[in-house]
Amino acid sequence: MFFRFVMFFKYQFTNKTCFLNMLFNIRSTKNKRLILCNISKSNNMDLSTKYMGLNLKNPLIIGSSGLTDKVDKIKKLEDNNAGAVVLKSLFEEQINAEVYNVADSGSNDYPEAYEYIKEYTKDKTINEYLALIEDSKKAVNIPVIASINCVTDTEWIKFAEDIEKAGADALELNIALLPSDPFAEGCDSEDIYYKITEKISNVISIPVSLKMSYYSAGLAKLIYNLSASGNVKGITLFNRFYNPDIDLDSLEISSSNVFSTPDEYTLPLRWVALLSGKIDADMAATTGIHDGSSMAKQILAGASAVQIVSSIYKHGPEYINTILKEFEDIANKHNLSSIDEMKGKLSFHKNKYSRAFERVQFMKYFGGIS
Ligand SMILES: Cc1cc2nc3c(=O)[nH]c(=O)nc-3n(C[C@H](O)[C@H](O)[C@H](O)COP(=O)(O)O)c2cc1C
Repeated sequence: MFFRFVMFFKYQFTNKTCFLNMLFNIRSTKNKRLILCNISKSNNMDLSTKYMGLNLKNPLIIGSSGLTDKVDKIKKLEDNNAGAVVLKSLFEEQINAEVYNVADSGSNDYPEAYEYIKEYTKDKTINEYLALIEDSKKAVNIPVIASINCVTDTEWIKFAEDIEKAGADALELNIALLPSDPFAEGCDSEDIYYKITEKISNVISIPVSLKMSYYSAGLAKLIYNLSASGNVKGITLFNRFYNPDIDLDSLEISSSNVFSTPDEYTLPLRWVALLSGKIDADMAATTGIHDGSSMAKQILAGASAVQIVSSIYKHGPEYINTILKEFEDIANKHNLSSIDEMKGKLSFHKNKYSRAFERVQFMKYFGGIS
């Protein structure tokens, strides 16, 4: 009771208007007992948490995207209570182009391709990226996670050292693999995850997370092995790929939605729940998390944090507060007072209905449709 009272005042002091209103209400009401009774019932959740050893004031991370490619945007995200940001990815091609520049490879076998890459990277070189990290770190207090989009384990890896030196709190590797070659073995394409994460962990000491795709024959085992290797501290589930579509008017290939829809959150939810408690890495859930309820579900399933992009594009940075408020209301409703208490409460590991996360067939009972 006393603890709740102290927590209540701590919370009110963080919001002066609210605190003054409360004083006014207590002074002006005839029923002080009722107010004090409500105070004692108030249950303000402690939203702080840890992700890959980083201290987050809350588990809502803004995912890698155009929302995080400029310092002023990042500052605005912090002002609206984002727990951390993952910077827009630097692409492996950009880093490799820098490598070619350093080597002054004028005798490239494919001068046109070389010129193209140079042109492509002109506006966004690694130096600009390092400056983005440095300037963001000066401008905000929340963790700044750098991101590299990569598919090979070539020379670009040594540039990870520069990213660490620039002050990034962690590095997310966005490994975009589409196992589309019918002649390649599954383990060949998955080998790249091991190679890249091992090489990266040899050159840097900040935590490394792996943002991976769900295309894998043995996804659970792959993630288990990667986490057991000690080379990754975090797993981000899942990379949302650009998907082509078909335009039936022009009979041309078009692009499908760039933004996710709110019903997409169930894919990461299943895998977070299945892997929670079984792997030695923190999980960040991403894709389709558009509100406080889908955020709460991911934490209940076992995620340490969520990464959100589409809904912030649609509603603006202020929407972070709406999501957090809804999330907190849900936690309060169930008397959950901390992220630790909430995390994994309904994971496969703990939930008596755990088989539900493995179920893949629709049945009348589960689908609700006969
Ligand atoms: C416009 C846009 C740009 C993105 N750029 C990147 C990127 O550079 N690197 C990356 O890892 N993910 C990128 N993503 C993917 C997001 O980080 C996120 O994983 C995905 O959008 C799913 O989250 P959401 O459902 O909240 O949108 C981008 C997404 C969008 C919509």
